[in-house]
Amino acid sequence: MAANKKLLMLPGDGIGPEVMNQVRVLIDWMDRRRHVSFDVTDGLVGGAAIDAHGTSLADNTLADAMAVDAVLLGAVGGPKWDGVARDIRPEAGLLKLRKEMDLFANLRPATVVPALAKSSSLKEELVSGLDILIVRELTGGVYFGEPRGIETLADGTRRAVDTQVYTDGEIERVCRIAFELAGKRSGKVHSAEKANVMETGVLWREVAGQVAKDFPDIEFHNILADNCAMQLVRWPKQFDVLVTDNLFGDILSDCAAMLTGSLGMLPSASLGAADSDGRRRAMYEPVHGSAPDIAGQDLANPLAMVQSFVMCLKYSFDMGEDADLIDQACKNVLDAGKRTSDIAEEGVGAISTTAMGEALVAELDSLAA
Ligand code: IPM
Ligand code: MG
Repeated sequence: MAANKKLLMLPGDGIGPEVMNQVRVLIDWMDRRRHVSFDVTDGLVGGAAIDAHGTSLADNTLADAMAVDAVLLGAVGGPKWDGVARDIRPEAGLLKLRKEMDLFANLRPATVVPALAKSSSLKEELVSGLDILIVRELTGGVYFGEPRGIETLADGTRRAVDTQVYTDGEIERVCRIAFELAGKRSGKVHSAEKANVMETGVLWREVAGQVAKDFPDIEFHNILADNCAMQLVRWPKQFDVLVTDNLFGDILSDCAAMLTGSLGMLPSASLGAADSDGRRRAMYEPVHGSAPDIAGQDLANPLAMVQSFVMCLKYSFDMGEDADLIDQACKNVLDAGKRTSDIAEEGVGAISTTAMGEALVAELDSLAA
């Protein structure tokens, strides 16, 4: 079968390679059982790339990322690289990928799988059935704004500067994606900013309001980001799609993630603008980090990485059927009580990363039989 679906795998650091391996297992299964082939290239990012090339994203890796249909990324960072210069630190490689590929829309779904509603730190009735989609702006704001830096003034005082900056165009394009996605869901958008204290918040609110006018069927609310954090833990089911800037999105998505019971469950998709054929540059990565404390021990939960691959099948390859099959397999193994230690009640009966991958394959075999 012709391999025409180009994937770049960047496992990265910590648990990244272990969870990525479970995607490889699924790709092998798809090759065997669904006769779908991917043209997979491997690359280094983050600390792994620093160790090999002295920089967290080599130019040829970036070129590969630009050339493929989709990038799958594991995780970056770890204490080993705490001391490296800021411009080459592991996170810088990830940020450069996002920026250079212009992946401005970061989709972070937070859904509660029924089998795991008890794992949430919130009461079950507050989270069961929860299905939120955070759309985080990913290439602007304080993450990239200039000027930035730490300077020493004449009197010896040290002064640090970050700049929060947004253009109307940057706000508009990410809001538009949020509204379009809301149209395919339950039809509600909240836009979170700090219009009460920040100029970028004022512009954000204005532009989001203008975009909302183009989507009259979508219920629209502005919400202050601090109130949004509070509402997320008070009554999360009031939210459907939540669009927000880079920094608030970083924070609010961690918060939303935990509603679901474990960061180890949540995938993400980062999308660029559509070209004339409707294709978008795209990168898929779990929301969790590199978890250096459990790295290399076959303990990590691979489901966020697997679900990121599911998003990849859906958004980059239009393979909804295969995506649904793998998603169903994930649900079934959880229903059958399979748990990695992060989601096992008090760690009891937890299975390994590899065993979770094997369970998925066994389940896929029976679903496809
Ligand atoms: C995330 C992470 C990254 C971010 C780090 C690793 C740079 O926290 O994807 O949420 O802050 O965006
Ligand atoms: Mg984060």
